[in-house]
Amino acid sequence: MKNKFSGKFIVLDGPDGCGKSTQAKLLAEWLKEQSVAVESFRDPGATAIGEKIRQILLNPEHTAMSTRTELLLYMAARTQLWAEKIAPALEANKCVVLDRWLSSTCAYQGCAGGFGMERIIKLATDSLERPWPDLTIILDVDLQTGVNRLCGRPDRMEQKSDEYHQKVREGFLELAEKQKNFVVIDAAGDIESVHKKVIEIIVQADFNKCH
Ligand code: TMP
Repeated sequence: MKNKFSGKFIVLDGPDGCGKSTQAKLLAEWLKEQSVAVESFRDPGATAIGEKIRQILLNPEHTAMSTRTELLLYMAARTQLWAEKIAPALEANKCVVLDRWLSSTCAYQGCAGGFGMERIIKLATDSLERPWPDLTIILDVDLQTGVNRLCGRPDRMEQKSDEYHQKVREGFLELAEKQKNFVVIDAAGDIESVHKKVIEIIVQADFNKCH
């Protein structure tokens, strides 16, 4: 079990309110219990530069921000995260668990924002050292379930319209259909039942067949 996850790059992603931050934390704890050396990060964030970019991106006052600015800022935070945190962890044979990644840019800016997924993927291929993880788990929830789970003052992305967030969900599902090493799970259930599904997928994953 320990060797299976060494140097593996696993992403949890999905629409706002899908529970991926909670599930990423539980997954990292489970991996630690299996004696796997694990590091987990959020994207955007986890570096000093990335956290500053995150604040710019999510500030509700920045209503003028265009989709192109958004996607370049998300990419900028991500390249920093790769260089400072992910690459060293993978090189040290740790398992890296990410809360969001390029799949979010495809669903939000590519699909909902209208920039186009193919163009996002092209940009990512040219600018990221490694665009795709070994495994991406999409936690799928309908719009209302996602909204019900949000708490606190909505950030700039959460404030976008229902129509936008509906397209985000469709974007994730479309991406999962066409991209390798993606699995979608129904994340409408309680925390424990979703965690069980995540672990089932992780245990069954055949990383030798990835890429
Ligand atoms: P979080 O609150 O789940 O960490 O994510 C921050 C917000 O940023 C969330 O609404 C999703 C959005 N987002 C994008 O629009 N594009 C991206 O590439 C990423 C990583 C997040």
